[in-house]
Amino acid sequence: DAPDTDTNSKLLKICQLLDQEVEYYNWTGFYFRNGEKEELILGPYVGAETDHTVIPFGKGICGQVAVSGETFVVPDVHTQDNYLSCSIDTKSEIVVPIFKNGKNIGQIDIDSHKIDPFTKADEEVLQWICEKVAEII
Ligand code: SME
Repeated sequence: DAPDTDTNSKLLKICQLLDQEVEYYNWTGFYFRNGEKEELILGPYVGAETDHTVIPFGKGICGQVAVSGETFVVPDVHTQDNYLSCSIDTKSEIVVPIFKNGKNIGQIDIDSHKIDPFTKADEEVLQWICEKVAEII
């Protein structure tokens, strides 16, 4: 479900921090499951405005992670058929699921203007952040 106002402001701070600290993070945001519906709703984010405020399960990289529950690293978005383009500047993407009580409740989504920038360290830090987010949600 959508987090409350106080939680949203914390989530926005996380986005701002990541956006400031990591040069190749060019769009950083959260998506959360809309109740029991099979769709994601855009939460706090930093970066260009996106048309994708609601994403059905299975659609795009985000929708696929909603189904798989696994981190999805896309070194080059142009190689993906099932991809929702946010900005023509985006070249790569990483999506990490957020689990609470064993349930896939949402995700952090990061786009980069660089090809293949994401390392194991990115995956690990983002997974750690997602664990912390699950605790405050
Ligand atoms: N690229 C995503 C859509 C969300 S935007 O990147 C913010 C996708 O394919 O699911």
